[in-house]
Amino acid sequence: MNRNGQWWDDAVVYQIYPRSFQDSDGDGIGDLAGIESRLDHLVWLGVDALWLSPIYPSPLADMGYDVADHCAVAPELGDLYGFDRLVASAHERGLRVLLDFVPSHTSIEHRWFREHPEYYVWADEPPNNWVAAFGGPAWTLDEATGRYYLHSFYPEQPDLDWRVPEVREAMGDVIRFWAGRGVDGFRVDAVQQLMKDANLRDDPLATTPFLLPLGDEYGRLDHVHSEAGPEIHVALEAMREAAGDALLIGEIYRPTRDLGPYLEHLDLAFAFELLHAPFEAKRLAEVVREGAAQARVAWALSNHDFPRLATRFGSGRAALAATLLMTLPGPTFIYQGDEIGMVDGPGAHPPFDRAGRDPYRHPMQWEPEPRGGFTTGDPWLSLTDPERVSVARQRGDRASLLELYRRLIARRRELSGPVDAQADGGAGGSEGRRCGCRPRRRFVPQRGPPRESARRSGRTPARTTPRQPPRDS
Ligand code: GLC
Ligand code: MG
Repeated sequence: MNRNGQWWDDAVVYQIYPRSFQDSDGDGIGDLAGIESRLDHLVWLGVDALWLSPIYPSPLADMGYDVADHCAVAPELGDLYGFDRLVASAHERGLRVLLDFVPSHTSIEHRWFREHPEYYVWADEPPNNWVAAFGGPAWTLDEATGRYYLHSFYPEQPDLDWRVPEVREAMGDVIRFWAGRGVDGFRVDAVQQLMKDANLRDDPLATTPFLLPLGDEYGRLDHVHSEAGPEIHVALEAMREAAGDALLIGEIYRPTRDLGPYLEHLDLAFAFELLHAPFEAKRLAEVVREGAAQARVAWALSNHDFPRLATRFGSGRAALAATLLMTLPGPTFIYQGDEIGMVDGPGAHPPFDRAGRDPYRHPMQWEPEPRGGFTTGDPWLSLTDPERVSVARQRGDRASLLELYRRLIARRRELSGPVDAQADGGAGGSEGRRCGCRPRRRFVPQRGPPRESARRSGRTPARTTPRQPPRDS
């Protein structure tokens, strides 16, 4: 599958970590109304779309990636009415909205776990040596049934079994539910974990290091059976069917060269080798070349799972890194706060995230004051250094990182170069394509189906669903 000429071809997408972007009600937790109140920051910056990390009800064992209800909003973040308002406000401003879709597991508190145990993977005894990504065995005893369930991540995140048709149908309903509310696409979480070996064979010991960083225990095995099963297309076809024309961008934590089978059904996949590359010209050139050869990779230099860009490369190199990121061919992602050079914070004690990722999730720093303009209450996670680094201090200062990002995003629209005659029918001139970048096509907000892009391309739109939770029985 290759859908050329889509809005995301050269898009700049801004990743929002909802709990940490803007609080609107003083409870110290960022929320949807807060995000809505800050949309003009994104418009001013010039990005095309925003991606919201999970907004669903969750017991927060994995800070929202343990979803307890896929078709609702966590009460501390808002409600569906507020969500609809946020989408409408974003669309009015020409911004697209992407949600995080978490298909590989649910929260152990999701009602499916008790009502539909057949949606999950069970065994009487741990059948193999698989380990969970955050360490420990991938099989945990369920006291209630005396059986073991599989979990690729925390024990609070039982894995769904995508071989079960009802799982595919129920998760398809989730996609249709949100697409029906006007969502423009989905960042699909942990796609490599969707399909495992049907025979649950042991993973062999790793003999060569994996090309991306892994937890110590996880890295000891070569995940040929616990990940990336050959039947992945079964799951991805179901997702594509449900998503219709909406953007599907995969988080596939595998080397770029392994992305091919996923890109047969997904529109884009992150090139994680760039995110982990050291700041060395030779290595950067290698990973960019490899990613560009895959044609449909998306670039990012940090996200909520890994050290922040300015910490990893050093604050002195943040401007250079921004220049690199904004001049790469194809879609590119900015993690909230990177545009002002936020660094890793101290985290929390005891931690919210047992895997140690709190330092990358501190609240956004809007104003040079102790609560950073993030909240009027006690922030759920402390502010790091708002007096030193903030949006307010950098806006209007031509020498600031923030203003550099803004200029780079604007200049990115003008990138032109050797014309790909096939892409523009030989017309050349300013309409030509260069390295996957093309002149900006303004997003016209749409009100109700059929979707603008579907009309344009003649493709089937996502089936629109009445606004009610999906059937799951
Ligand atoms: C993805 C998310 C990460 C989460 C994991 C399990 O990698 O980015 O935050 O812990 O999936 O859902
Ligand atoms: Mg709040």
